[in-house]
Amino acid sequence: MGNSFLISPSLFCSFLLLSSVSVDGVNSSSPFADLYHSSRALLEEVGQLVGRHRDRFTLETMRAQNKGYAAEIAVITYNRLNKLMNGDSKFRILLSFGQHGRELITSELALHLLSVLSGELGMPDLNTVSMDNVLDNVVIKIVPMENQNGRKRVEDGDACERRNGRGVDLNRNWSVDWGKKEKDYDPYEENPGIAPFSEPEAQIMRNITKLFDPHIWVTVHSGMEALFMPYDHRNGTPDGYTSKTMKSVLADLNHKHFRDRCVVGSGGGTVGYFAHGTTTDYMYDVAKVPVAFTFEIYGNSSAPATDCFRMFNPADSATFKKVISEWCTAFLTLFETAPSHLKADLGKWVSIRGNVVDGGESRAGRRKVLDGIELGMQELKTYFRLFILSSVLLMFMFCSRISRSKLIHTGSSNLS
Ligand SMILES: *[C@@H]1O[C@H](CO)[C@@H](O)[C@H](O)[C@H]1NC(C)=O
Ligand SMILES: *[C@@H]1O[C@H](CO)[C@@H](O)[C@H](O)[C@H]1NC(C)=O
Ligand SMILES: *[C@@H]1O[C@H](CO)[C@@H](O)[C@H](O)[C@H]1NC(C)=O
Ligand SMILES: [Zn+2]
Repeated sequence: MGNSFLISPSLFCSFLLLSSVSVDGVNSSSPFADLYHSSRALLEEVGQLVGRHRDRFTLETMRAQNKGYAAEIAVITYNRLNKLMNGDSKFRILLSFGQHGRELITSELALHLLSVLSGELGMPDLNTVSMDNVLDNVVIKIVPMENQNGRKRVEDGDACERRNGRGVDLNRNWSVDWGKKEKDYDPYEENPGIAPFSEPEAQIMRNITKLFDPHIWVTVHSGMEALFMPYDHRNGTPDGYTSKTMKSVLADLNHKHFRDRCVVGSGGGTVGYFAHGTTTDYMYDVAKVPVAFTFEIYGNSSAPATDCFRMFNPADSATFKKVISEWCTAFLTLFETAPSHLKADLGKWVSIRGNVVDGGESRAGRRKVLDGIELGMQELKTYFRLFILSSVLLMFMFCSRISRSKLIHTGSSNLS
Protein backbone atom coordinates (compact mmCIF):
# COMPACT_ATOMS: atom_id res chain seq x y z
CA MET A 1 0.00 0.00 0.00
CA GLY A 2 2.58 2.47 1.16
CA ASN A 3 4.68 1.66 -1.83
CA SER A 4 1.96 2.35 -4.27
CA PHE A 5 1.39 5.74 -2.69
CA LEU A 6 5.04 6.48 -3.19
CA ILE A 7 5.05 5.27 -6.75
CA SER A 8 1.87 6.94 -7.95
CA PRO A 9 3.12 10.54 -7.87
CA SER A 10 6.25 9.56 -9.73
CA LEU A 11 4.17 7.70 -12.29
CA PHE A 12 2.07 10.81 -12.59
CA CYS A 13 5.18 12.92 -13.11
CA SER A 14 6.61 10.62 -15.69
CA PHE A 15 3.27 10.78 -17.48
CA LEU A 16 3.59 14.57 -17.48
CA LEU A 17 7.13 14.27 -18.70
CA LEU A 18 6.13 11.89 -21.45
CA SER A 19 3.35 14.11 -22.60
CA SER A 20 5.59 17.17 -22.63
CA VAL A 21 8.14 15.21 -24.63
CA SER A 22 5.49 14.28 -27.13
CA VAL A 23 4.35 17.91 -27.38
CA ASP A 24 7.94 18.92 -28.06
CA GLY A 25 8.14 16.14 -30.58
CA VAL A 26 5.31 17.80 -32.44
CA ASN A 27 7.72 20.60 -33.42
CA SER A 28 10.49 18.42 -34.62
CA SER A 29 10.62 14.73 -35.28
CA SER A 30 7.11 13.44 -34.68
CA PRO A 31 4.44 15.99 -35.49
CA PHE A 32 1.60 13.58 -35.07
CA ALA A 33 1.15 13.10 -31.36
CA ASP A 34 -2.23 11.54 -30.78
CA LEU A 35 -4.21 13.58 -33.24
CA TYR A 36 -2.78 12.72 -36.62
CA HIS A 37 -2.39 9.54 -38.62
CA SER A 38 0.90 8.74 -40.24
CA SER A 39 0.58 8.79 -44.01
CA ARG A 40 0.81 5.02 -44.09
CA ALA A 41 -1.86 4.53 -41.42
CA LEU A 42 -4.13 7.05 -43.08
CA LEU A 43 -3.95 5.40 -46.49
CA GLU A 44 -4.39 1.99 -44.90
CA GLU A 45 -7.50 3.17 -43.16
CA VAL A 46 -8.83 4.59 -46.40
CA GLY A 47 -8.18 1.24 -48.09
CA GLN A 48 -10.04 -0.65 -45.37
CA LEU A 49 -12.96 1.76 -45.54
CA VAL A 50 -13.22 1.22 -49.29
CA GLY A 51 -13.06 -2.54 -48.70
CA ARG A 52 -15.99 -2.39 -46.31
CA HIS A 53 -18.15 -0.40 -48.75
CA ARG A 54 -17.60 -1.78 -52.20
CA ASP A 55 -21.18 -0.85 -53.07
CA ARG A 56 -20.16 2.80 -53.22
CA PHE A 57 -16.37 3.10 -53.29
CA THR A 58 -13.64 2.05 -55.67
CA LEU A 59 -9.94 2.64 -55.17
CA GLU A 60 -7.31 3.07 -57.87
CA THR A 61 -3.63 3.71 -57.43
CA MET A 62 -2.07 5.75 -60.22
CA ARG A 63 1.68 5.71 -60.71
CA ALA A 64 4.07 7.77 -62.78
CA GLN A 65 7.74 8.49 -62.84
CA ASN A 66 10.28 10.63 -64.56
CA LYS A 67 14.05 10.79 -64.36
CA GLY A 68 14.19 8.24 -61.59
CA TYR A 69 11.60 9.97 -59.46
CA ALA A 70 8.45 7.94 -58.88
CA ALA A 71 5.15 8.96 -57.37
CA GLU A 72 1.86 7.29 -56.71
CA ILE A 73 -1.54 8.66 -55.92
CA ALA A 74 -4.53 6.82 -54.48
CA VAL A 75 -7.88 7.92 -55.91
CA ILE A 76 -11.17 6.92 -54.32
CA THR A 77 -14.34 7.13 -56.36
CA TYR A 78 -17.64 7.48 -54.56
CA ASN A 79 -20.55 6.49 -56.78
CA ARG A 80 -23.67 5.19 -55.11
CA LEU A 81 -26.31 3.30 -57.04
CA ASN A 82 -23.75 3.06 -59.79
CA LYS A 83 -25.50 0.07 -61.27
CA LEU A 84 -28.79 1.90 -61.55
CA MET A 85 -27.57 5.17 -62.92
CA ASN A 86 -25.11 6.19 -65.56
CA GLY A 87 -22.22 8.06 -63.95
CA ASP A 88 -22.15 10.45 -66.88
CA SER A 89 -25.52 11.92 -66.00
CA LYS A 90 -24.42 12.73 -62.47
CA PHE A 91 -22.45 15.73 -61.31
CA ARG A 92 -18.77 14.97 -61.17
CA ILE A 93 -16.76 16.39 -58.30
CA LEU A 94 -13.00 16.08 -57.93
CA LEU A 95 -11.40 16.86 -54.56
CA SER A 96 -7.72 16.79 -53.74
CA PHE A 97 -6.12 16.97 -50.32
CA GLY A 98 -2.54 17.04 -49.14
CA GLN A 99 -0.92 18.71 -52.16
CA HIS A 100 1.53 20.34 -49.76
CA GLY A 101 3.34 17.98 -47.41
CA ARG A 102 3.12 20.01 -44.21
CA GLU A 103 -0.65 20.55 -44.41
CA LEU A 104 -1.44 17.38 -42.50
CA ILE A 105 -4.91 18.45 -41.41
CA THR A 106 -6.19 18.36 -45.00
CA SER A 107 -5.70 14.59 -45.37
CA GLU A 108 -7.39 14.05 -42.01
CA LEU A 109 -10.37 15.94 -43.42
CA ALA A 110 -10.34 13.66 -46.47
CA LEU A 111 -10.46 10.58 -44.27
CA HIS A 112 -13.28 12.01 -42.21
CA LEU A 113 -15.27 12.97 -45.31
CA LEU A 114 -14.83 9.46 -46.69
CA SER A 115 -16.06 7.98 -43.40
CA VAL A 116 -19.14 10.18 -43.56
CA LEU A 117 -19.76 9.23 -47.20
CA SER A 118 -19.41 5.56 -46.24
CA GLY A 119 -22.23 5.98 -43.73
CA GLU A 120 -20.02 4.81 -40.85
CA LEU A 121 -19.86 8.29 -39.36
CA GLY A 122 -22.95 10.40 -38.96
CA MET A 123 -23.04 14.15 -39.27
CA PRO A 124 -24.87 16.29 -36.76
CA ASP A 125 -27.36 18.84 -38.11
CA LEU A 126 -27.90 16.91 -41.27
CA ASN A 127 -31.17 16.02 -42.92
CA THR A 128 -30.28 12.48 -43.89
CA VAL A 129 -33.07 12.02 -46.40
CA SER A 130 -32.26 15.09 -48.46
CA MET A 131 -28.54 14.37 -48.18
CA ASP A 132 -29.18 10.91 -49.58
CA ASN A 133 -30.87 12.46 -52.60
CA VAL A 134 -27.95 14.81 -53.07
CA LEU A 135 -25.41 12.01 -52.86
CA ASP A 136 -27.31 9.84 -55.33
CA ASN A 137 -26.75 12.49 -57.95
CA VAL A 138 -23.01 12.99 -57.66
CA VAL A 139 -19.88 11.05 -58.41
CA ILE A 140 -17.03 12.19 -56.20
CA LYS A 141 -13.39 11.41 -56.76
CA ILE A 142 -11.21 12.03 -53.73
CA VAL A 143 -7.43 12.17 -53.69
CA PRO A 144 -6.73 12.02 -49.95
CA MET A 145 -2.98 12.61 -50.21
CA GLU A 146 -1.74 14.09 -53.46
CA ASN A 147 1.86 14.53 -52.32
CA GLN A 148 2.82 11.29 -50.57
CA ASN A 149 6.55 11.78 -51.04
CA GLY A 150 6.55 15.31 -49.63
CA ARG A 151 4.42 14.14 -46.77
CA LYS A 152 7.02 11.45 -45.92
CA ARG A 153 9.66 14.16 -45.71
CA VAL A 154 7.51 15.97 -43.17
CA GLU A 155 7.14 12.75 -41.20
CA ASP A 156 10.90 12.30 -41.33
CA GLY A 157 11.28 15.58 -39.47
CA ASP A 158 11.13 18.41 -42.00
CA ALA A 159 7.91 19.94 -40.68
CA CYS A 160 8.13 22.92 -43.06
CA GLU A 161 8.30 20.94 -46.31
CA ARG A 162 5.51 21.73 -48.70
CA ARG A 163 7.11 20.55 -51.94
CA ASN A 164 7.17 17.05 -53.42
CA GLY A 165 9.81 14.37 -52.91
CA ARG A 166 12.33 16.20 -55.10
CA GLY A 167 11.65 19.76 -54.09
CA VAL A 168 9.10 20.96 -56.65
CA ASP A 169 6.02 22.86 -55.51
CA LEU A 170 3.13 20.89 -57.01
CA ASN A 171 0.95 23.95 -56.89
CA ARG A 172 3.37 25.83 -59.16
CA ASN A 173 3.93 23.02 -61.66
CA TRP A 174 0.86 23.60 -63.87
CA SER A 175 0.90 25.38 -67.18
CA VAL A 176 -1.17 28.54 -66.69
CA ASP A 177 1.30 31.42 -66.40
CA TRP A 178 3.92 28.89 -65.34
CA GLY A 179 7.34 29.86 -64.11
CA LYS A 180 6.76 33.57 -63.64
CA LYS A 181 8.48 34.66 -60.47
CA GLU A 182 7.41 37.45 -58.19
CA LYS A 183 9.93 39.72 -56.44
CA ASP A 184 9.48 37.74 -53.24
CA TYR A 185 9.89 34.37 -55.01
CA ASP A 186 11.33 31.83 -52.60
CA PRO A 187 12.77 28.71 -54.26
CA TYR A 188 12.61 26.80 -51.02
CA GLU A 189 8.85 27.31 -50.96
CA GLU A 190 7.71 27.64 -54.54
CA ASN A 191 10.13 25.90 -56.92
CA PRO A 192 7.92 25.36 -59.99
CA GLY A 193 10.13 22.65 -61.46
CA ILE A 194 12.01 22.71 -64.74
CA ALA A 195 8.89 22.90 -66.94
CA PRO A 196 5.13 22.67 -66.70
CA PHE A 197 4.05 19.15 -65.77
CA SER A 198 7.56 18.00 -65.11
CA GLU A 199 6.29 16.32 -61.95
CA PRO A 200 4.66 12.87 -61.98
CA GLU A 201 2.13 14.01 -59.38
CA ALA A 202 0.97 16.87 -61.62
CA GLN A 203 0.81 14.51 -64.60
CA ILE A 204 -1.33 12.04 -62.71
CA MET A 205 -3.68 14.77 -61.51
CA ARG A 206 -3.98 16.13 -65.04
CA ASN A 207 -4.81 12.64 -66.30
CA ILE A 208 -7.46 12.11 -63.66
CA THR A 209 -9.00 15.42 -64.67
CA LYS A 210 -9.01 14.57 -68.37
CA LEU A 211 -10.62 11.20 -67.83
CA PHE A 212 -13.13 12.32 -65.23
CA ASP A 213 -13.99 15.72 -66.70
CA PRO A 214 -15.28 17.19 -63.43
CA HIS A 215 -17.89 19.92 -63.02
CA ILE A 216 -16.38 20.91 -59.70
CA TRP A 217 -12.78 20.95 -58.55
CA VAL A 218 -11.53 21.72 -55.06
CA THR A 219 -7.95 21.57 -53.83
CA VAL A 220 -7.74 21.69 -50.06
CA HIS A 221 -4.91 23.49 -48.26
CA SER A 222 -4.12 25.01 -44.91
CA GLY A 223 -2.25 28.10 -43.70
CA MET A 224 -5.25 30.41 -43.42
CA GLU A 225 -9.04 30.27 -43.62
CA ALA A 226 -10.14 31.07 -47.11
CA LEU A 227 -12.48 30.14 -49.94
CA PHE A 228 -10.71 30.98 -53.17
CA MET A 229 -11.79 30.97 -56.78
CA PRO A 230 -9.60 31.79 -59.81
CA TYR A 231 -7.38 33.54 -60.50
CA ASP A 232 -4.24 32.94 -58.47
CA HIS A 233 -1.87 34.46 -61.01
CA ARG A 234 -3.50 37.86 -61.19
CA ASN A 235 -5.71 40.19 -59.27
CA GLY A 236 -9.23 39.47 -60.34
CA THR A 237 -11.86 36.85 -60.96
CA PRO A 238 -12.62 35.50 -64.45
CA ASP A 239 -15.40 36.94 -66.61
CA GLY A 240 -16.68 33.48 -67.57
CA TYR A 241 -20.33 32.47 -67.30
CA THR A 242 -19.75 30.55 -64.03
CA SER A 243 -17.98 33.38 -62.25
CA LYS A 244 -21.17 34.59 -60.57
CA THR A 245 -22.07 31.04 -59.56
CA MET A 246 -18.68 30.50 -57.98
CA LYS A 247 -18.98 33.77 -56.07
CA SER A 248 -22.42 32.97 -54.71
CA VAL A 249 -21.56 29.38 -53.78
CA LEU A 250 -18.56 30.63 -51.80
CA ALA A 251 -20.49 33.46 -50.15
CA ASP A 252 -23.17 30.95 -49.07
CA LEU A 253 -20.60 28.56 -47.60
CA ASN A 254 -18.84 31.34 -45.77
CA HIS A 255 -22.05 32.63 -44.28
CA LYS A 256 -23.59 29.29 -43.41
CA HIS A 257 -20.57 27.51 -41.97
CA PHE A 258 -17.91 30.05 -41.07
CA ARG A 259 -19.81 33.12 -39.85
CA ASP A 260 -18.29 35.08 -42.72
CA ARG A 261 -14.81 34.82 -41.28
CA CYS A 262 -13.09 33.25 -44.31
CA VAL A 263 -11.35 35.33 -46.92
CA VAL A 264 -13.41 34.96 -50.11
CA GLY A 265 -12.51 35.79 -53.68
CA SER A 266 -9.73 35.45 -56.20
CA GLY A 267 -6.58 33.95 -54.71
CA GLY A 268 -4.36 36.50 -56.45
CA GLY A 269 -6.63 39.35 -55.39
CA THR A 270 -6.89 38.53 -51.71
CA VAL A 271 -3.96 36.48 -50.48
CA GLY A 272 -1.35 39.22 -50.86
CA TYR A 273 0.77 37.59 -53.57
CA PHE A 274 0.33 36.18 -57.05
CA ALA A 275 0.89 32.46 -57.51
CA HIS A 276 1.93 31.23 -60.96
CA GLY A 277 1.36 27.76 -62.40
CA THR A 278 -1.30 26.78 -59.86
CA THR A 279 -3.62 23.81 -60.23
CA THR A 280 -6.84 25.75 -59.80
CA ASP A 281 -6.00 28.28 -62.53
CA TYR A 282 -5.22 25.35 -64.84
CA MET A 283 -8.44 23.56 -63.94
CA TYR A 284 -10.46 26.64 -64.76
CA ASP A 285 -8.60 28.01 -67.77
CA VAL A 286 -7.32 24.91 -69.54
CA ALA A 287 -9.32 21.92 -68.29
CA LYS A 288 -12.49 24.09 -68.46
CA VAL A 289 -13.80 22.89 -65.12
CA PRO A 290 -16.70 25.31 -64.61
CA VAL A 291 -16.31 25.55 -60.83
CA ALA A 292 -12.73 25.53 -59.52
CA PHE A 293 -11.89 26.33 -55.91
CA THR A 294 -9.02 26.36 -53.45
CA PHE A 295 -10.11 25.96 -49.83
CA GLU A 296 -7.75 26.94 -47.02
CA ILE A 297 -9.14 25.27 -43.94
CA TYR A 298 -6.96 26.33 -41.01
CA GLY A 299 -4.12 28.62 -40.07
CA ASN A 300 -2.52 29.95 -36.92
CA SER A 301 -0.87 33.26 -37.69
CA SER A 302 0.38 33.64 -34.12
CA ALA A 303 2.48 30.49 -34.34
CA PRO A 304 6.15 31.32 -34.92
CA ALA A 305 7.34 30.95 -38.52
CA THR A 306 9.69 28.16 -37.46
CA ASP A 307 6.80 26.10 -36.11
CA CYS A 308 5.23 24.88 -39.33
CA PHE A 309 3.27 22.21 -37.58
CA ARG A 310 1.30 24.81 -35.61
CA MET A 311 1.12 27.34 -38.44
CA PHE A 312 -0.65 24.84 -40.68
CA ASN A 313 -2.32 22.35 -38.33
CA PRO A 314 -4.47 22.41 -35.22
CA ALA A 315 -2.37 21.25 -32.29
CA ASP A 316 -5.10 20.49 -29.76
CA SER A 317 -7.92 18.04 -29.93
CA ALA A 318 -10.77 20.55 -29.61
CA THR A 319 -9.54 22.70 -32.52
CA PHE A 320 -8.76 19.62 -34.57
CA LYS A 321 -12.31 18.29 -34.17
CA LYS A 322 -13.89 21.66 -34.83
CA VAL A 323 -11.96 22.19 -38.07
CA ILE A 324 -12.73 18.70 -39.34
CA SER A 325 -16.41 18.83 -38.52
CA GLU A 326 -17.00 22.38 -39.85
CA TRP A 327 -15.31 21.70 -43.16
CA CYS A 328 -16.86 18.30 -43.58
CA THR A 329 -20.31 19.84 -43.23
CA ALA A 330 -19.30 22.62 -45.59
CA PHE A 331 -18.37 20.02 -48.21
CA LEU A 332 -21.75 18.34 -47.86
CA THR A 333 -23.38 21.73 -48.41
CA LEU A 334 -21.18 22.25 -51.45
CA PHE A 335 -22.33 18.91 -52.91
CA GLU A 336 -25.88 20.13 -52.51
CA THR A 337 -25.69 23.77 -53.57
CA ALA A 338 -23.08 23.83 -56.32
CA PRO A 339 -24.90 21.44 -58.70
CA SER A 340 -28.20 23.29 -58.32
CA HIS A 341 -26.51 26.67 -58.85
CA LEU A 342 -24.60 25.30 -61.81
CA LYS A 343 -27.49 23.69 -63.61
CA ALA A 344 -28.58 27.01 -65.01
CA ASP A 345 -25.09 27.74 -66.35
CA LEU A 346 -24.29 24.45 -67.91
CA GLY A 347 -26.22 24.94 -71.10
CA LYS A 348 -23.24 27.06 -72.13
CA TRP A 349 -20.57 24.68 -70.96
CA VAL A 350 -18.36 22.87 -73.43
CA SER A 351 -15.95 20.78 -71.42
CA ILE A 352 -12.70 19.23 -72.53
CA ARG A 353 -14.68 16.08 -73.25
CA GLY A 354 -17.28 18.14 -75.04
CA ASN A 355 -20.29 17.07 -73.02
CA VAL A 356 -22.92 19.09 -71.28
CA VAL A 357 -24.73 18.03 -68.16
CA ASP A 358 -28.28 18.54 -69.37
CA GLY A 359 -29.06 15.60 -71.56
CA GLY A 360 -25.45 14.79 -70.87
CA GLU A 361 -26.02 11.08 -71.08
CA SER A 362 -26.65 10.88 -74.79
CA ARG A 363 -24.24 13.61 -75.78
CA ALA A 364 -21.50 12.21 -73.62
CA GLY A 365 -22.13 8.78 -75.00
CA ARG A 366 -22.05 9.99 -78.56
CA ARG A 367 -18.98 12.05 -77.88
CA LYS A 368 -17.12 9.06 -76.47
CA VAL A 369 -17.98 7.01 -79.53
CA LEU A 370 -16.75 9.86 -81.68
CA ASP A 371 -13.49 10.01 -79.75
CA GLY A 372 -13.11 6.30 -80.24
CA ILE A 373 -13.50 6.40 -84.01
CA GLU A 374 -11.69 9.66 -84.55
CA LEU A 375 -8.36 7.96 -85.20
CA GLY A 376 -10.02 5.47 -87.53
CA MET A 377 -11.63 8.37 -89.35
CA GLN A 378 -8.28 10.02 -89.90
CA GLU A 379 -7.00 6.86 -91.56
CA LEU A 380 -10.15 6.44 -93.60
CA LYS A 381 -9.83 9.99 -94.85
CA THR A 382 -6.26 9.33 -95.95
CA TYR A 383 -7.28 6.17 -97.79
CA PHE A 384 -10.19 7.98 -99.36
CA ARG A 385 -7.91 10.71 -100.67
CA LEU A 386 -5.52 8.14 -102.10
CA PHE A 387 -8.45 6.36 -103.69
CA ILE A 388 -9.77 9.56 -105.31
CA LEU A 389 -6.30 10.49 -106.50
CA SER A 390 -5.67 7.12 -108.11
CA SER A 391 -9.16 7.12 -109.66
CA VAL A 392 -8.50 10.52 -111.17
CA LEU A 393 -5.18 9.31 -112.52
CA LEU A 394 -6.78 6.20 -114.00
CA MET A 395 -9.58 8.27 -115.55
CA PHE A 396 -7.03 10.64 -116.97
CA MET A 397 -5.00 7.83 -118.49
CA PHE A 398 -8.16 6.17 -119.79
CA CYS A 399 -9.50 9.39 -121.32
CA SER A 400 -6.24 10.33 -122.90
CA ARG A 401 -6.10 6.88 -124.50
CA ILE A 402 -9.66 7.24 -125.80
CA SER A 403 -8.95 10.67 -127.16
CA ARG A 404 -5.74 9.45 -128.75
CA SER A 405 -7.54 6.51 -130.32
CA LYS A 406 -10.34 8.87 -131.38
CA LEU A 407 -7.76 11.12 -132.92
CA ILE A 408 -6.28 8.18 -134.69
CA HIS A 409 -9.67 6.99 -135.88
CA THR A 410 -11.26 10.27 -136.87
CA GLY A 411 -8.20 12.28 -137.66
CA SER A 412 -10.01 15.24 -136.08
CA SER A 413 -7.92 17.90 -134.37
CA ASN A 414 -10.64 19.94 -132.69
CA LEU A 415 -9.97 18.27 -129.33
CA SER A 416 -6.56 19.84 -128.93
C1 LIG B 1 7.23 21.03 -63.00
O1 LIG B 1 8.41 20.43 -62.54
C2 LIG B 1 9.20 19.88 -63.55
C3 LIG B 1 10.34 19.10 -62.96
O2 LIG B 1 11.18 19.91 -62.25
C4 LIG B 1 9.69 20.95 -64.43
O3 LIG B 1 10.45 20.40 -65.50
C5 LIG B 1 8.51 21.67 -64.95
O4 LIG B 1 8.99 22.78 -65.62
C6 LIG B 1 7.59 22.13 -63.85
N1 LIG B 1 6.44 22.67 -64.44
C7 LIG B 1 5.79 23.62 -63.87
C8 LIG B 1 4.58 24.13 -64.56
O5 LIG B 1 6.14 24.06 -62.82
C1 LIG C 1 -1.91 9.52 -68.76
O1 LIG C 1 -2.77 8.97 -69.71
C2 LIG C 1 -2.11 8.55 -70.87
C3 LIG C 1 -3.14 8.13 -71.89
O2 LIG C 1 -4.20 7.46 -71.30
C4 LIG C 1 -1.13 7.44 -70.53
O3 LIG C 1 -0.45 7.02 -71.66
C5 LIG C 1 -0.14 7.99 -69.51
O4 LIG C 1 0.73 6.98 -69.11
C6 LIG C 1 -0.86 8.54 -68.32
N1 LIG C 1 0.09 9.18 -67.47
C7 LIG C 1 0.00 9.14 -66.16
C8 LIG C 1 1.04 9.88 -65.44
O5 LIG C 1 -0.89 8.55 -65.59
C1 LIG D 1 -1.55 29.33 -32.19
O1 LIG D 1 -0.19 29.43 -31.91
C2 LIG D 1 0.10 30.00 -30.65
C3 LIG D 1 1.61 30.15 -30.56
O2 LIG D 1 2.25 28.90 -30.78
C4 LIG D 1 -0.47 29.12 -29.56
O3 LIG D 1 -0.23 29.70 -28.31
C5 LIG D 1 -1.95 28.96 -29.78
O4 LIG D 1 -2.47 28.05 -28.85
C6 LIG D 1 -2.20 28.43 -31.16
N1 LIG D 1 -3.62 28.37 -31.40
C7 LIG D 1 -4.23 27.22 -31.60
C8 LIG D 1 -5.69 27.30 -31.85
O5 LIG D 1 -3.64 26.16 -31.66
ZN1 LIG E 1 -0.89 24.52 -49.50
